[in-house]
Amino acid sequence: MNSQITKEQINEQGHLTIGGVDAVELAHQFGTPLVVYDVERIRSQIRAFRKVFEEENVAYAVSYASKAFSSIAMYQVANEEGAYTDVVSAGELYTALKADFPTSRISFHGNNKSKAELEMAVDHHIGKIILDNFYEIELLDQILQEKDEQMKVMLRIAPGISAHTHEYDQTGQVDSKFGFDLESGQADLALEKVLANPRMEMVGVHAHIGSQIFELNGFQMAAKKLMEIVENWREQYDYTASILNVGGGFGIKYTANDNPLRPEEFVRAIIQTIKEEANKNDFPIPEIDIEPGRSIVGPAGYNLYTTGSRKIIPGYRPYVAIDGGMGDNIRPALYDAEYETVLASDPHAKATEHVRIAGKYCESGDILAQDQALPVTQAGSILAMLDTGAYGYSMASNYNRNPRPAVVFAENGKAKLVIKRESLEDLVHLDQSYED
Ligand code: LLP
Repeated sequence: MNSQITKEQINEQGHLTIGGVDAVELAHQFGTPLVVYDVERIRSQIRAFRKVFEEENVAYAVSYASKAFSSIAMYQVANEEGAYTDVVSAGELYTALKADFPTSRISFHGNNKSKAELEMAVDHHIGKIILDNFYEIELLDQILQEKDEQMKVMLRIAPGISAHTHEYDQTGQVDSKFGFDLESGQADLALEKVLANPRMEMVGVHAHIGSQIFELNGFQMAAKKLMEIVENWREQYDYTASILNVGGGFGIKYTANDNPLRPEEFVRAIIQTIKEEANKNDFPIPEIDIEPGRSIVGPAGYNLYTTGSRKIIPGYRPYVAIDGGMGDNIRPALYDAEYETVLASDPHAKATEHVRIAGKYCESGDILAQDQALPVTQAGSILAMLDTGAYGYSMASNYNRNPRPAVVFAENGKAKLVIKRESLEDLVHLDQSYED
């Protein structure tokens, strides 16, 4: 029995439903592999974040970290819910612009933004650029001069906090490619440069300590650190930051072994820490911005697959192969990420065997689940992998020249195709012949 699927998600046929739509029918209508989002789930998480800020009565921005899943439809939903968004490339910015996302609510991140990307950000008058290094300060200055423009900026700080998570997901420690280091004085020097620049309006400070974090403590330490920084800056430079951006990273439940706080409860604790620190030092309570990605789209996403071949090796777990794999979800191969999978036609069916769910890509590491309890499946069964909405499609590839899947948004019993499945023709549309 899967604890993540509620009774309300099962229809009269006993099938899994997503956003009120039968998952087996979705698979038949749109084909597999298919990524399906329960849109209400996305909306309700954004609302839950916003509610905490409203209850705590502080100025805020819930900025959706769109690297988790970027598409026109997703920016539209985020906008409808009053979220801000952050982008990390010209491609994400372009997609947000195509969705008519209000540019004043967009911020731009990244440790090596190109000149073209910064120019695009300036031309579209986006809300903020989060500066990551000295090279970028100079590049932006040059662009602002050339274009006779202004820009709101924040400084990203490496707060020197190692979050307890998978090594690849740590971004806040000192030895990191992201942000200005504190101890060596780089952060102060960056502030001096920005304050001295008449075209840059310094609005605040940013830190992101990592992703899929369960420990509250890491966030509270980071919040304290940021307050310490802005207090120092007030003393040393007579500069009072008006925004503290604490990043994202709130961990979600992927399997029964995960037991995180609700994402909005992390945020409540962060807000309270900042308030306490501010009150202690008579510092005006700043606007608090968060940048959740995974917690907004992760639990809302499902990957549907059709089973095919089955390999039985006496004495070992059977391999049940599906029509997708590392091309639509690289996370198990890259981070040993684990997910739960159910039979879409009967999600609560009694499990009768433990299997490996094998992808179809030519690589031994292409196993989406090492040990999944399932009822016995036949070729043609539809499997639903749960909580796949973050960093699945956004990290999809065309490895083996497999097309990337379609993406469907389901809400109130209706399904809408929001990203088409790639066709074989799409796969060669950039190729040029070498023959005359
Ligand atoms: N803000 C910044 C500056 C970030 O670098 C990230 C994630 C976020 C916000 C959003 O973090 P989230 O709330 O989604 O945890 N591909 C990896 C995750 C990489 C996260 C990178 N930065 C994965 O699949 O686990």
